Amino acid sequence: MFATATLAAFAALLLTVRAQIPADCARTATVQSGDTCNGISAAQNVSTFQLAHVNPGIDAACDNLQVGETLCLGITGQDCTTVHVVQSGDFCAAIAATAGIPLATLLHNNPNVNSGCTNLGIGEVLCTTSETINYS
Ligand SMILES: *[C@@H]1O[C@H](CO)[C@@H](O)[C@H](O)[C@H]1NC(C)=O
Repeated sequence: MFATATLAAFAALLLTVRAQIPADCARTATVQSGDTCNGISAAQNVSTFQLAHVNPGIDAACDNLQVGETLCLGITGQDCTTVHVVQSGDFCAAIAATAGIPLATLLHNNPNVNSGCTNLGIGEVLCTTSETINYS
């Protein structure tokens, strides 16, 4: 009885996790023990915004990652793979200049960053591609 219920719950969990991976997912990663959203983002070359956008099941504080869970890292056609990890003292104009892209492109591709660039967090991962990514 207990085993049956446990198996059913596990199957439901697997279905839930699998249902979160979009059919047009370009690449995935499996959550390891100790992973954080910014850590996964930095290691996998995905922006903090993109990881959260593609995986709406991750809560705002990113404290509900499940070890073994598969995350989609980017949707085909909307997948930024060129990134910069924010360091202490970084500001948007300098990050854009270093990446060789217009500030407007940086802001467009990182919709979580405000227009004055006053809400950067250390360890946050920004998309720094010169291409324009239109997230749907
Ligand atoms: C992330 O990007 C860096 C710099 O281009 C590259 O060296 C590294 O192999 C990339 N890592 C992954 C997982 O794509």
